[in-house]
Amino acid sequence: MNVVITGSTVLTQQGEQRLDVRISNGKIIELSESIKPEVEDQLLDAAGCHVLPGFVDLHTHLREPGKEDSETIETGSRAGALGGYTALVAMPNTTPAQDSIPIIDFVRAQGKRAGLVEVVPSGCITIGRAGSALAPLADLARHGVQIFTDDGSGVQDPALMRRAMEYSRDLGITLAQHCEVSALTAGAVMNECSCSSELGVPGWPALAEELMVHRDIELAKLTGAKIHFLHLSTAGSVRLVREAKREGLPITAEVTPHHLSLTEELLRTFDSTFKVNPPLRSAEDIEALRSGLLDGTIDAVATDHAPHVRRDKELPLDQAPPGMLGLETALGVVLSTVPMNAMDLAKVMSINPARIAGISDRHGILPQVGQPANLCVVDMRAEWTVDPSKLASKSRNTPFVGRTLRGKVRHTVFEGDVVVKNGEAQR
Ligand code: DOR
Repeated sequence: MNVVITGSTVLTQQGEQRLDVRISNGKIIELSESIKPEVEDQLLDAAGCHVLPGFVDLHTHLREPGKEDSETIETGSRAGALGGYTALVAMPNTTPAQDSIPIIDFVRAQGKRAGLVEVVPSGCITIGRAGSALAPLADLARHGVQIFTDDGSGVQDPALMRRAMEYSRDLGITLAQHCEVSALTAGAVMNECSCSSELGVPGWPALAEELMVHRDIELAKLTGAKIHFLHLSTAGSVRLVREAKREGLPITAEVTPHHLSLTEELLRTFDSTFKVNPPLRSAEDIEALRSGLLDGTIDAVATDHAPHVRRDKELPLDQAPPGMLGLETALGVVLSTVPMNAMDLAKVMSINPARIAGISDRHGILPQVGQPANLCVVDMRAEWTVDPSKLASKSRNTPFVGRTLRGKVRHTVFEGDVVVKNGEAQR
């Protein structure tokens, strides 16, 4: 069955154009001012909406295998599709961790089975993410894994990180670092600031992130390897990346919607919904992150979608796991906090992340005849209120419940199939 999108503004290489779109066999086959649908065509009304390349999330915790009570590849994929995503990079801190070919195959197969987005498994940098021996990077790279990380923790040992970078340069893969010097964050529950002192809780200094950003920039200089910095959260990190990019180093970086929008002050409630790694920071940090995103220092918005079951998040603040949901609210939070036009949005949520993940042959492509139909149709002005009963994620740990956001996904088309129509998942 063909799909016809009508009434839309399409973001093309020539800019925004009022065009209809016809899709057949997974590809865009026609873009023109007025397409007459056939009776058997599936029609998507996109009046007032933009057709953009489907979003690509560089940072999704899908929890399968190992923690299927908080999310599965299928429920996370559905949440992603509802958020306008057509590809999700699955983080490797599963149980077992994604450090071997059978686990990578399993994650890919479960993604295919769900059929809602492309699930792109990342590989671990070190075996079991334990930080002591390198994972089989070459075997995994030969098996199509393009992005490697120990996310959830950073690689602490600089010699091991140097070796990983030497291999990654030769293999043409990307290493993605979770920047946290763990010796500086033991027991920490929130940003180290006057607020953490007042509350009497252990703080997480900005330096714990910035030291590792600095170290890895120096290692990138030494080795010539590419490095991607996950979930940057401090003004100092933005400065370091800006300078490194000025020197021409092959560095990329991401920021989460929550670090762009929520401050450390929220931890005064002692509500663990706001506990996240890295922690929410100050208003000045938020300002620096927003400027960094707008001036291209930060390449991508990535969700760090981190589902956790209620009984875990209800533990006292020091014991509750860090993390919050992100996939279904990312667009709304970003458009509600950072002034962006459709092209800015496509760059940071689709084009750049697809390039960093190594999947830009099929995702992050501005709509063109002959290209794969991985698209989202978004109303950039629509306001909506986050209703937890409507979330597709298996978990509910989002701080945005009850908030009114601007920017809503109307339809998502994955490999030519309509997986979300009028804001409802079709599978
Ligand atoms: O808040 C976070 N939660 N940050 C991480 O780096 C890991 C993630 C998780 O797995 O829950």
